Amino acid sequence: MTTALTKAVIPAAGLGTRFLPATKAMPKEMLPVVDKPAIQYVVEEAVGAGLHDVLMITGRNKAALENHFDRMYELEQTLEAKGDREKLRKVEYSTDLADMHYVRQGDPLGLGHAVLRAKMHVGREPFAVLLGDDIIDPRDPLLSRMTEVYERRDATVVALLEVPASQTHMYGVATVEETEDDDVVRITGLVEKPPQGEAPSNYAIIGRYVLKPEIFEVLEHTAPGKGGEIQLTDALLELANDESSGGVYGVVFRGRRYDTGDRLDYIKAIVQLAVEREDLGVDLRPWLREFAANLD
Ligand code: UTP
Repeated sequence: MTTALTKAVIPAAGLGTRFLPATKAMPKEMLPVVDKPAIQYVVEEAVGAGLHDVLMITGRNKAALENHFDRMYELEQTLEAKGDREKLRKVEYSTDLADMHYVRQGDPLGLGHAVLRAKMHVGREPFAVLLGDDIIDPRDPLLSRMTEVYERRDATVVALLEVPASQTHMYGVATVEETEDDDVVRITGLVEKPPQGEAPSNYAIIGRYVLKPEIFEVLEHTAPGKGGEIQLTDALLELANDESSGGVYGVVFRGRRYDTGDRLDYIKAIVQLAVEREDLGVDLRPWLREFAANLD
């Protein structure tokens, strides 16, 4: 029997340098995707998968993140006085969404280091890690499938996406073996951001993980890797090579994913999500068509 998952960890302490100057005084996770900060989509996804206990790893500029999931009395009272129930509901929704906890990373020494900061809160339980760079469409549940695979195999599980060879250098890339499940592979090798042309496959790790508490012991001795950062990928590789840990499996995600990690993909994500929205799509679609028709 495996232990049930109840906790989600969301690292949000990166410097977000690709979005400067927007991220000079604000975490990139607060950038709006249509009209919600990216981080809210991710917390909604965790809660949707039954993970109500959410630990956010924050860094400098953490105030905006904490405030977003807290009460905003002045704003609430103003909207209440105006009788604007709809806007009030939007403000209150994120406050009541999850049981939020925060810990600071201190120096941003890498994603692996950020995950290690969750050790005290998580204890000896399995947990999910969700990165704000990836928004997964709620119509294509990924985390619940990963949880199923964890429960069945008692193993670490990561989300994989098949990307074009031209993009593998931006991801952790896995060497895999097939399993009897069409959407599940066993991971036998991992390399963080391989140089172009040197990736072992097209299977890129995207920002969803189901980790066992053993990851903490590994991260404690993981040396800085690519970019001088303590890489979660390096710790996962050690677990993949350690039979006694149960190994590492990948769930191949074939659903809708919106990348908000770099500027171009962020713009695409906003357009993709906005055209599908009932309140915006009707006007946006014809405008987009006309705009595109007039492009050189
Ligand atoms: P990225 O590799 O996207 O780095 O981190 P970044 O700093 O956020 O962004 P750029 O590359 O400078 O623009 C992946 C995830 O890991 C978190 C980030 O917040 C992001 O969610 N992270 C990264 C940390 O929490 N701490 C770190 O030390 C590094």
